Amino acid sequence: MHTLTVELGDRAYPIVIGPELMTAERIAPHIHGRQVLVVTNETVAPLYLSRVLKAVSAFEVATVVLPDGEAHKHLETLDLIFSEALENRFSRNATFIALGGGVVGDMAGFAAASYQRGVRFLQIPTTLLAQVDSSVGGKTGVNHRLGKNMIGAFHQPTAVFADTDMLKSLPPRELSAGLAEVIKYGLLGDHQFLQWIESKIEALRAQDSEALTEAIRQSCTMKAEIVRRDEREGGVRALLNLGHTFGHAIEAHLGYGDWLHGEAVGAGMVMAAEVSRQIGALDASDVARVASLCESAGLPTKPPAGMTPSDFMTHMAVDKKNVDGRMRFILLRALGDAYVDDAVDPQSLSAALTTCCH
Ligand SMILES: NC(=O)c1ccc[n+]([C@@H]2O[C@H](COP(=O)([O-])OP(=O)(O)OC[C@H]3O[C@@H](n4cnc5c(N)ncnc54)[C@H](O)[C@@H]3O)[C@@H](O)[C@H]2O)c1
Ligand SMILES: [Zn+2]
Repeated sequence: MHTLTVELGDRAYPIVIGPELMTAERIAPHIHGRQVLVVTNETVAPLYLSRVLKAVSAFEVATVVLPDGEAHKHLETLDLIFSEALENRFSRNATFIALGGGVVGDMAGFAAASYQRGVRFLQIPTTLLAQVDSSVGGKTGVNHRLGKNMIGAFHQPTAVFADTDMLKSLPPRELSAGLAEVIKYGLLGDHQFLQWIESKIEALRAQDSEALTEAIRQSCTMKAEIVRRDEREGGVRALLNLGHTFGHAIEAHLGYGDWLHGEAVGAGMVMAAEVSRQIGALDASDVARVASLCESAGLPTKPPAGMTPSDFMTHMAVDKKNVDGRMRFILLRALGDAYVDDAVDPQSLSAALTTCCH
């Protein structure tokens, strides 16, 4: 078992990683007050709800089981959470628990940020993506029909419990999607970690527990450090969007739901590497290495068939990360060294898009 800390002064919190974490001794000390609202979904509830309920049985507990899927990550679904809390007369001293993947985490987190102007919440992420990324850092929110994650708040959890036992039921495609974010950390800031991922990719896909624990530990260490330095994304936190500018364009083009987020990020990272090559920072063998790792992870390495450079330009023009109308990209100076570039010349971008699109 490993415990890391997200150092945010009086809002610092632990990330606990390992098997068999669902015990009262571990969970209860992080709950303040008497009331606990467990938020989960219809897929995760039959698998893991009972062990969580057992760990919090000393408290006054209510449960909300949400419908599964990104399509439900909107304001109307939040009402189910608020209604359950209000019907049980939960006070500002209640603690919410998010038990599920990133969708449940984002919704339960936003509900916790806004219920009676803010209550505490714990994250118990159950997908690899949520364990290495979305449960850490305090970004919460829901989608609007006009844009993904457009309604939200920064609200840090009081603890994160990444129980590696819970990954055993994860479908292989979801595991690969989580690996995309793991690869992202190696690519953006740690060449040694990248090499380690390359050497362990088969073990990771086979759910080797030691390899997974190490991947989660390294990823969370990097995310925690980036969040400590830049909680509200004024600077270095933007690097976490490596591959995401292109990935979001793919998701928007496909209308969300066809490709998983991590799959779009896989292709997006190869595209970011190709732009980096076009501007002279990487060479062809670096791009091939990124593509080969994504492929070994079970991820796409090219945009969906039929998606054109102009489709990318249309979607990227409205990216939330753009500043004052300039497109912002996270590019690579080298594998393991990302930077923000808002002055990519149009020819290089266009050449990269043409190379990457089918
Ligand atoms: N807040 C952040 O910083 C942040 C960062 C990255 C992504 N996100 C958000 O996270 C979401 C994606 O998260 P995700 O990839 O975890 O998707 P998800 O929450 O939809 O989970 C994927 C699927 O796996 C199921 N599932 C979850 N745990 C399982 C388990 N242990 N066994 C079997 N099935 C399980 C879910 O019910 C769902 O069907 C997106 O909405 C994205 O916007 C947020
Ligand atoms: Zn992501």
